[in-house]
Amino acid sequence: MDWITTLPAWGWMIVMLVVVLIAVAVYDITQKKHTILHNFPVIGHFRYWLETVGPELRQYIVANNREELPFNRRQRSWIYASSKRENNFQGFGTDQDVNTAGFIFIKPALLTKRLPKNHPYRENPYVLPAPKVIGLTHNRKRPYRPKQVINISGMSFGSLSASAITAFNEGAAKFGCYHNTGEGGFSPYHDKGADVVLNIGTAYFGLRDDEGNFVMEKLIKLTQKNPSIRMLELKLSQGAKPGKGGVLPAAKITQEIADIRHVPMGRDVISPAAHSAFSDLPEMLEFIEAMAAATGLPVGIKAAVGKLEMWEELATLMVKTGVGPDFITIDGGEGGTGAAPPSFADHVALPWVYGFSSVYKIFKKHGLTDRVTFIGSGKLGLPAQAIMAFAMGVDIINVAREAMMSIGCIQAQLCHTNHCPAGVATQSKWLQAGLDPTLKSERFYNYAKTLTKEILEISIACGYEHPCQFTMHDVDVAMGDNNHTRPLSVAYEYEKAPVLYEGIDSLVNCQYLGGKKH
Ligand SMILES: Cc1cc2nc3c(=O)[nH]c(=O)nc-3n(C[C@H](O)[C@H](O)[C@H](O)COP(=O)(O)O)c2cc1C
Repeated sequence: MDWITTLPAWGWMIVMLVVVLIAVAVYDITQKKHTILHNFPVIGHFRYWLETVGPELRQYIVANNREELPFNRRQRSWIYASSKRENNFQGFGTDQDVNTAGFIFIKPALLTKRLPKNHPYRENPYVLPAPKVIGLTHNRKRPYRPKQVINISGMSFGSLSASAITAFNEGAAKFGCYHNTGEGGFSPYHDKGADVVLNIGTAYFGLRDDEGNFVMEKLIKLTQKNPSIRMLELKLSQGAKPGKGGVLPAAKITQEIADIRHVPMGRDVISPAAHSAFSDLPEMLEFIEAMAAATGLPVGIKAAVGKLEMWEELATLMVKTGVGPDFITIDGGEGGTGAAPPSFADHVALPWVYGFSSVYKIFKKHGLTDRVTFIGSGKLGLPAQAIMAFAMGVDIINVAREAMMSIGCIQAQLCHTNHCPAGVATQSKWLQAGLDPTLKSERFYNYAKTLTKEILEISIACGYEHPCQFTMHDVDVAMGDNNHTRPLSVAYEYEKAPVLYEGIDSLVNCQYLGGKKH
């Protein structure tokens, strides 16, 4: 046994390693939970490790520029570069197979529109107000024209970190767009200067009693105390999980979140699937009118689209009664979420183009397109997708995940775990400490400005001054065959109703224009 005493340091390391490996092998063989580890002791662990890091390996090394979902590398890089004001151009030409089904072709004019010397865009190409005043046709006390057509979609404090919400609100204040609270209620982080849209889900967070019933007095108090709240959005459903209430895992609930939402600590917070304040469409309209009368604010609905019967009934009721939502947000089935079962995220609800076109056609048939502002969300925060949406009849676009990426989200898809490495969708103090709200608010601001500018540049290339002027004939979609593209009007079988547009000056000088710091 003399060799033991004379063993060099590296020899001891090998002995230790062998001992550890034998211990791991014995553990693997005797445990009963994992068949793979029992059958392949020690090396079986590599399988679990690869499963864990597989998404990152594919994202950074294996996948090509255009194949990842929800957002491919080209789209993410454009957002990252735009938000950092870096070079977001592309060299050599497109690397996209332009014959892929669904690919968008925007049709430029032969001669680009020439702007007069004193045109407002020459000085500021970053302000593009919404084409309609929301709430005016229904005589709300506080009608509202959002200062920007690009706005931040609902994402709650709780689902997102305080740092992320602060960055969004400060960035939105600089840009002039509104910031939708998401269903988690109005928090101090939503009070940094931006216009706010209060998203009201089935759990009525912050507006509820102990049993979860809606309390109108709380809504009145909140909106009176916070004039930055400019609209109310009644969330009927969300593209990623229609018919399934929101889920906030217990791991993400802090005392502060519990207090804002008026929920207990230590348990998953699951919003009910259905609203308790109304049970059919006439009752829903009464509820909308009651909220509008009590607060003076425009009230809209947000929903994903599936069956069309109730949309038809809603439009018929609106014509008959003269009342109804001031705006309708259509969320695509491909939309994002903090947490949802994959079956819902993948399969329940129509993709945005089909859902929106189906609903728009109904409202157009009933002559309601001037009474209602249409808002779209579902991967529309990129220039070409946004133009297509405007051409189809959208007045405003809400962006959620694109906005998250502008403040550092790396598409790790861990929003449901509290382990978001970018500090965006987590309540971990450590992880969100890496997200500096001041710096990231600037990043959102840059992204939103760049997107707006590019939307404007494409509009001008097509002979327009505002994207609301796009028609269904200005955009073609590839049908998946070399020789076949179809205008939107043919692909979705409708014409967009023209939007009354009297020039950019009349929008910018509108008395109801929002975006003034609060
Ligand atoms: C983390 C996260 C949280 C969300 N929370 C809400 C919410 O509370 N209320 C809501 O109406 N939509 C919520 N959504 C959906 C978004 O508002 C949006 O409708 C959807 O993600 C589509 O937009 P996008 O493709 O730009 O992400 C959430 C989305 C994400 C990614």
